[in-house]
Amino acid sequence: MNKETIRSVTVRRMTVLVRVDYNVPMEDGKIVDDLRIRESLPTLELLRKKGARRIILISHLGRPEGKDKSLSLAPVAERLKELMPGGKVFFVSDVSGPDVDEAVEKLPVGGILVLENLRFYKGEEQNSPEFAKEIVDATHADLFIQDGFAVCHRAHASTEAVTKELPSIAGLLLEKEITELSKISDNPSHPFVVVIGGSKVEDKQPLIDKFAKTADQIIVGGKIAADGYTSDLKNVYVAEDFSDESKYDLGPKSTAKIVDFAKSAKTILWNGLLGMAENPEYAKSSEALAVAIGESKNTSVICGGDTTGFVENLQKTHSDLDYSLISTGGGAALEFLCGEPMPGIDSLDEK
Ligand code: 3PG
Repeated sequence: MNKETIRSVTVRRMTVLVRVDYNVPMEDGKIVDDLRIRESLPTLELLRKKGARRIILISHLGRPEGKDKSLSLAPVAERLKELMPGGKVFFVSDVSGPDVDEAVEKLPVGGILVLENLRFYKGEEQNSPEFAKEIVDATHADLFIQDGFAVCHRAHASTEAVTKELPSIAGLLLEKEITELSKISDNPSHPFVVVIGGSKVEDKQPLIDKFAKTADQIIVGGKIAADGYTSDLKNVYVAEDFSDESKYDLGPKSTAKIVDFAKSAKTILWNGLLGMAENPEYAKSSEALAVAIGESKNTSVICGGDTTGFVENLQKTHSDLDYSLISTGGGAALEFLCGEPMPGIDSLDEK
């Protein structure tokens, strides 16, 4: 990676502004998947270890139109407090101005302050330099750290404009995502197998096109296959049987073939569930694939929120399952793999 990272930069006594992606799935005000919060911990712990004076976290949550209390980051800050060794996690319900200034002043050494949802303010999505400057001024930040890989495909104030205000470097999660996903997109070990599932063909076709030449085998399952996806490419296998006439899961023949492909792979990328796996009755093919990948010793990248959530849930009962990367990236991971511009990465300082 050619970007500067927190490994090599001094943060001692500094106030650091960290962009995380805490856009986590919520139901009735409760966090249902905290992967993105957990994956932010290594950076926060390293910053404390390296003597950062204060750590200020900024993120968005959902797509609010104006201030929407149901999308406040307060519950996320609470979850972070539970997860963060040593605690000292605080929340302030603004992103700039006197309340933030005061909360920053009050922070103990090594304290973490989570600011309110950036998307409560128009300036965020407008990539406004003034908005970015207001945040930097109120937080007294000396350094900007980008660790929200999942939002790096957006050119927003907290991903791009802010980098014009401060020295800007990568956190550990960003580094990990870039390193593992680059292996897949630039230099996969062969046999290289790509498994595509899910429901929206328009979202997945760019991935199929991207890997048409480099993958030894592309597998298409999920609703896309059930809807009759076809391809002229020789290396594309579309699931051929289904569990029942609802077509909500793949049948035994397709499942066995996909598991065989997965076991033969040296590198495997999986994006999109093979069936309607939120219903355990239709989760069999996805589970068989997750187990086959997780038990193998090969390089494996799992991406897409539904797929990563499914795999993580399975790990709760199958603790032996292991994957090289369970990506926090969502849409950003797909865009990164397809070589789309990533303003949140491109704008960081080079080594
Ligand atoms: C995501 O969950 O994909 C990221 O947080 C980006 O969110 P967005 O698609 O609303 O910009």
